[in-house]
Amino acid sequence: MNNKDINVITVDGPSGTGKGTIGQLLAQRLGYHYLDSGALYRLLALAAMRHKVPLDNVDALTVLAGHMDISFEMNCDGDAPVVILEGEDVSSTIRTEEMAVGASTVAVIPEVRQALLGRQRAFVDSPGLVADGRDMGTVVFPDARVKIFLTASPEERADRRYKQLMDKGESVSLAALVESVRTRDERDSNRQVSPLRPAADAIVLDTTGMTISQVLDRACVIVSEILSR
Ligand code: DC
Repeated sequence: MNNKDINVITVDGPSGTGKGTIGQLLAQRLGYHYLDSGALYRLLALAAMRHKVPLDNVDALTVLAGHMDISFEMNCDGDAPVVILEGEDVSSTIRTEEMAVGASTVAVIPEVRQALLGRQRAFVDSPGLVADGRDMGTVVFPDARVKIFLTASPEERADRRYKQLMDKGESVSLAALVESVRTRDERDSNRQVSPLRPAADAIVLDTTGMTISQVLDRACVIVSEILSR
């Protein structure tokens, strides 16, 4: 089967819009493969920290991005994939605020984004792929059949993140999170390469005030309408 015959569904948007959860559930419902592209940037930040590569050393970061030993172990029970770096399960380590900031920092480097491009495209596999991130519909998979862009107010996104971190026992202040969400949005939206914005042919879905299951239902309707055309 040619790659062009494989359905790709992109779910982009800023953090805290639920795109990771929606992407995973959508992939599960459709029996598709799943790519969490943000995890690649988080893995790079962690690999850099472990190999003592400063986050402004573009050459070393680019080599690391192309060669870091990573894998994702999928499971069928709907849980997030297990993320492996050099043989070690780092699923929780990459979810800390420290790695979120590191990921956002390395993500502005064009050479790093280029080095990760092929690695992301290699996830396309039969019968289909759901890929979530920031530039899935604009840069990585511009020919995707379905492109969804999720948004939500910064306050609601910070509040969702606050609850997630509290559940994991990380203590942070809500005000600091609102500030961090705004700063990260600003950096992700204004960077030169692959800025965060919806593709021209993306369907924008504002999830403010919606539950995950409401967003999932809406996403499923969008997908089935487009795939049946
Ligand atoms: O979705 P996330 O919070 O795990 O992403 C972590 C960082 O990586 C975020 O600051 C933006 C960046 N990122 C990106 O630039 N492009 C992607 N496709 C995915 C994430």
